[in-house]
Amino acid sequence: MSDEQKIALVTGASRGIGKAIASHLAATGTYVAGTATSQAGADAIKEQLGDGGTGLVMQLRDDDAIASALEVLEAQAGVPTILVNNAGVTRDNLLMRMSPEEWEEVIDTNLTGAYRVTRACLRGMLKARWGRIVNIGSVVARMGNPGQGNYVASKAAIEGFSRSLALEVASRNITVNTIAPGFIDTDMTDELTEEQTQTMLDRIPLRRVGRVNEVAAAVAFFCSDEAAYITAQTLEVNGGLYAI
Ligand SMILES: NC(=O)c1ccc[n+]([C@@H]2O[C@H](COP(=O)([O-])OP(=O)(O)OC[C@H]3O[C@@H](n4cnc5c(N)ncnc54)[C@H](OP(=O)(O)O)[C@@H]3O)[C@@H](O)[C@H]2O)c1
Repeated sequence: MSDEQKIALVTGASRGIGKAIASHLAATGTYVAGTATSQAGADAIKEQLGDGGTGLVMQLRDDDAIASALEVLEAQAGVPTILVNNAGVTRDNLLMRMSPEEWEEVIDTNLTGAYRVTRACLRGMLKARWGRIVNIGSVVARMGNPGQGNYVASKAAIEGFSRSLALEVASRNITVNTIAPGFIDTDMTDELTEEQTQTMLDRIPLRRVGRVNEVAAAVAFFCSDEAAYITAQTLEVNGGLYAI
């Protein structure tokens, strides 16, 4: 990598939306470190990115794992000034049946995980007096979704987190925004039944599911120099599914 090249950390880059974000950012000339929870996942990311980046093992539920992954990245390439908090999980259940473990895993991964990684990366951005943080929310944060109380709470919270952090760090030239995808074709949505998928499609004005590249392009815009005057915002990438 060259001295002027920016470094981006993309969590959950082994598949789905995160994989597309990593490729898209690498194609814009950014050096990308994509994370996975396993060594095999990290190796696959490294292979996919080639000279454009690397793969890291990072477990978002573990502060020490985050610190060691960042140490590896710093030694290999440098400090990231672009962070995309993409990794996320669902553990759906109606609230009356939702176990404390199902609640905890989703909040701890999607929300507290983003807090952990952001906090760990912020010092480097403050020092550089430049930064881009993009958090991946969801359309359900505003819409609500039965059976997803834990997930929806985590995604609504990440938007509030983004806005507050944006105000804290704006004077240092660091922007913080949220991308809220609608129904995107990935492993996460593959878990839905045919009936659930059809019900969702009937509600989407553009009459199709979204593609991972369409989310990645929106993320790349927020990470670019051209988006320097946009912060504390949420951009919905949802085919018109829910308008506010
Ligand atoms: N798909 C949609 O329709 C949709 C809609 C709205 C919002 N979103 C949001 O978009 C983001 C990506 O979704 P996706 O559909 O691309 O998901 P996905 O295909 O299920 O991939 C999830 C990614 O998160 C990583 N991950 C899971 N648990 C982790 C943990 N504890 N620590 C670190 N990494 C972890 C996974 O790593 P491993 O491969 O190692 O497990 C994987 O890379 C999520 O935040 C999701 O909530 C998705």
